[in-house]
Amino acid sequence: MGWMLDVRKLSKVFGGLPALVNVDFGIAPGEIVGLIGPNGAGKTTLFNVITGVFRPTSGEILFEGKNLVGLKPHDICRLGITRTFQVVKPLPKMTVLENVMVGAFARVGTKEEAREIALRELEFTGLLPKRDALARSLTLADRKLLELTRAVATRPKLILLDEVVAGLNPTETEETITLIQRLPERGIAAVAGVEHVMRVIMTISHRIVVLNYGRKIAQGSPEEVGHNPEVIEAYLGEAYAETS
Ligand SMILES: Nc1ncnc2c1ncn2[C@@H]1O[C@H](COP(=O)(O)OP(=O)(O)OP(=O)(O)O)[C@@H](O)[C@H]1O
Ligand SMILES: [Mg+2]
Repeated sequence: MGWMLDVRKLSKVFGGLPALVNVDFGIAPGEIVGLIGPNGAGKTTLFNVITGVFRPTSGEILFEGKNLVGLKPHDICRLGITRTFQVVKPLPKMTVLENVMVGAFARVGTKEEAREIALRELEFTGLLPKRDALARSLTLADRKLLELTRAVATRPKLILLDEVVAGLNPTETEETITLIQRLPERGIAAVAGVEHVMRVIMTISHRIVVLNYGRKIAQGSPEEVGHNPEVIEAYLGEAYAETS
């Protein structure tokens, strides 16, 4: 397959404890890939290593054929990979618009251009009416949306979403699913999403990759992964298998 992102034999050890062990992980253009696994499985670490927050202990990360290992997060962002953070931390004393402009500055040099991109992406995510609110005054749902808007404003080719629906109510969750499915309209070619909400993962993912204790234990279509005994044992639980 012609991968856009091609992660090979990636390992990350923290103080002797392996968080990722020989993980192969590819994303092709046009794909939405779901990444699942129990708490501590290494999902966020995988995103952190791909985006240059941590250097891998070993392994390769190729993005459009270019090796990312050793590059700084802002260089990787400029190459076209952006992520959202599981624990959202907008700049609290800045407005919603200013927070999104910070994302846009990854791509453009002037305030006018950044503002134009930010306004357009705020319209896309539905946060435009709150553009002048201070980020710290937002509800959790709106902070999550702001995080997504800021990420989209960096104009990525690949976006990595770390639990963007965690803590949202069912209506907010549906709205976010719709936004994720519309990301290609914003020029985003591929998406990888970590979620614990199985309905979301099963709805949005073309393909699902399962991590457990830092190892990839399965991958396949939502249907295949949902019926994989090892995945049910490690993560989904018997109840899930019976009700799905
Ligand atoms: N900066 C760090 N320093 C030391 N250990 C870390 C660090 N980041 C993660 N770990 C460890 O790596 C392992 C994987 O953690 P990670 O956050 O990637 O899991 P996760 O799959 O995202 O879990 P969750 O679903 O709870 O978010 C855990 O054992 C965690 O304690
Ligand atoms: Mg995590």
